[in-house]
Amino acid sequence: MIFVNENFEKLKAGYLFPEIGRRVNAFAQANPDAPIIKLGIGDVTEPLAPAVIDAMHKAVDEMATHQGLHGYGPEQGYAFLRDIIVENDYKPRNIPVDADEIFVSDGAKCDTGNMQEIFGIDNVVAVTDPVYPVYVDTNVMAGRTGEADDAGRYANIVYMPCTAENNFVPELPTEPVDMIYLCYPNNPTGAVATKEQLKKWVDYAIENKAVILFDAAYEAFIRDDSIPHSIYEIEGARKVAIEFRSFSKTAGFTGVRCGFTVVPKELIAYTKDGSAVDLHPIWNRRHCTKFNGVSYITQKGAEAVYSSEGKQQIKETIDLYMSNAGMMRKALTGQGYIVYGGEHAPYIWLHTPEGVDSWTFFDLLMNKANVVGTPGAGFGAAGEDYFRLSAFNDPAKVKEAMDRIAKI
Ligand code: MLT
Repeated sequence: MIFVNENFEKLKAGYLFPEIGRRVNAFAQANPDAPIIKLGIGDVTEPLAPAVIDAMHKAVDEMATHQGLHGYGPEQGYAFLRDIIVENDYKPRNIPVDADEIFVSDGAKCDTGNMQEIFGIDNVVAVTDPVYPVYVDTNVMAGRTGEADDAGRYANIVYMPCTAENNFVPELPTEPVDMIYLCYPNNPTGAVATKEQLKKWVDYAIENKAVILFDAAYEAFIRDDSIPHSIYEIEGARKVAIEFRSFSKTAGFTGVRCGFTVVPKELIAYTKDGSAVDLHPIWNRRHCTKFNGVSYITQKGAEAVYSSEGKQQIKETIDLYMSNAGMMRKALTGQGYIVYGGEHAPYIWLHTPEGVDSWTFFDLLMNKANVVGTPGAGFGAAGEDYFRLSAFNDPAKVKEAMDRIAKI
């Protein structure tokens, strides 16, 4: 008899974004003329940068020749991309990362979801609440949690509330935890963490022999130079942190698929008998076994992100999204909403009106304004009474969305 992985039965609901997609499709079918504006899932709307497109076209042409054909590449990524990442993302900030500590992948969602595989099943997972659902769901699937309660909180996960009071940066846990997921700039709240705040976490991880899984997918949206782009800007982090980066939001690669993960060579975990084990070779082993590398064409596109034209073009696109975020903050604040985020991240996190829960607000916005957002409750119990709006859209549509919200 074939047995199912019963951990999947513990999952509370469908994955958040397909669930929203399902509701939006049902609404669109019932209201075919409704001019829906989507500010829900953080999916980009601007075309890829011309430098990226040129590089990908050239790579396609190469692949059409015997000399230029690229078959299986290095699973960890081509040296041309790993080197240029170090030169541009890390060296200018004096961040010590070597090219062979970088693992190129098909995106941060997969890497943040897969990384838990290299850790023991008895580790205690700590997540912020609200949280990007991938961190939680993948640990549920792996069997690292118990059942969920009525609020959707799983047993054996330590939830660290992120509220307006703590500026959406959690306090250190009062009980021992082993795998700590942090995401800054934060999805969904749009908050950022200072160097001092991250230092507390790095010190905690060192002291408690824990690991920090640091999702930096939104670092390109930081507008203030004092805010860290990388966990490795914090002293000691190389011993205790893994960092996830993505070209999805930075360079509009949500449909192209490319990201990378840094696993430093100093990073260790322990066997049950207390012996230290290097994690870099373990992740390398896992990556090479389960992944055949990102396509040459995609990696050439990613390389072009770092060309001088690429950098300029990508900056212009990020500026456009961040100008949307500024417009949204201003409009919503003017309408009386309490608004967070949107200053160093492409997400606005707003408090729903008194007495209106986040799914009710979702329905209200969709029905009355034909605007789609993401209910805060979808990111965890502490997201209830909040609502996320994404700044990824055409400025005219964002303005139209704000005008429509003003009328409800
Ligand atoms: C989001 O909207 O939270 C993200 O786009 C989802 C993702 O990056 O997977």
